[in-house]
Amino acid sequence: METTTSLTGPMDLTEHLNAVRDAALRQIEDAADSDALAAVEAAVVGRDSEVAAARRGLGQMPAEERRDAGRLINEVAQEIQAALEARSEVLAAAAQSARIQAEAIDVTLDYQAVPVGNLHLIQQVIDEVSDIFVGLGYHVAEGPEAELAWYNFDALNTPADHPSRLGMDTMYVDYGNPEDEMNLRSHTSPIQARYMEQHEPPVYIVAPGRAYRNDTIDASHLPVFHQIEGLAVDTNITFSDLKGTLAEFARQFFGPETKVRMRPHFFPFTEPSAELDVSCFNCDGPGSTCRVCKGVGWLEMLGCGMVDPNVLTAVGYDPDELTGFAFGMGVERLAMVRHGIDSIRHFIDNDVRFLEQFRG
Ligand code: PHE
Repeated sequence: METTTSLTGPMDLTEHLNAVRDAALRQIEDAADSDALAAVEAAVVGRDSEVAAARRGLGQMPAEERRDAGRLINEVAQEIQAALEARSEVLAAAAQSARIQAEAIDVTLDYQAVPVGNLHLIQQVIDEVSDIFVGLGYHVAEGPEAELAWYNFDALNTPADHPSRLGMDTMYVDYGNPEDEMNLRSHTSPIQARYMEQHEPPVYIVAPGRAYRNDTIDASHLPVFHQIEGLAVDTNITFSDLKGTLAEFARQFFGPETKVRMRPHFFPFTEPSAELDVSCFNCDGPGSTCRVCKGVGWLEMLGCGMVDPNVLTAVGYDPDELTGFAFGMGVERLAMVRHGIDSIRHFIDNDVRFLEQFRG
């Protein structure tokens, strides 16, 4: 029986090995992936391959032919081995680029950015004003929003028949002890009385917080708004201390060129009382066509005055020994004046186009 491994001479062997090689190279080229290539490798150079059979046949050859035959077999084996390696590299590269393609991320793709928030402008102003006064040696105090009428009015020298106590101005709440009249605090001033009751003088505090009034919303009123209260009580505090303190605050908050003026006013809990104006930051003074101050040159900023002796007495302080000043400012107003905001409604509309203009 003739087999392809029965070699009769160098020419036959050459032809046979060429055929073996060509067949092997075709199979190698046809291997579609590395698994297929591994199977081909076993078939073309493994123990049962034609190449292995040819090597085994060398033993039966006459010695003078063996050397050339061996060299031929080695050459073919090397060619096949080189083709296997080349094909292996090609398949590995193809597999890698397929994987890269599968895992590819399109960096030009539009994505949903996570919005980054910021503190509300009101909170920023509260923090900034508090910081200014902390820098002047003040502490920050707080108090409840649902307040006893005693602290909101009586302790602050505000008589029972004062118009601010009417339901049309103040929002009352049915809460707690029925004997106690309670309201949503109409200003932050009750924190003055609460703080003095709890602390020995001297007192230097600012007290930020929400306040409530029975107001209809318009461009300059909200029923819920914010104030920052200030209170200084010590021996020998004078009106010039009040003016100097507020002037320093105005310079730090509105800019170093800012001037202040005071106009007489009335508050039940201070005597004398005043309103403080700051010079308009937007124009050169009275007579202009400024849209911020309407040509007045001054902007109304806050209420203030010397603490009424009756308030000191109400909290157990000795008015013969102590004097003090107090002030209360609207946070929304501070923000509107400084940033030229035309309606107080912007603060509660929660329109991000407004809010994100004040990233602090
Ligand atoms: N509480 C006053 C108001 O709400 C402001 C004020 C505070 C005035 C302290 C004088 C002293 O209008």
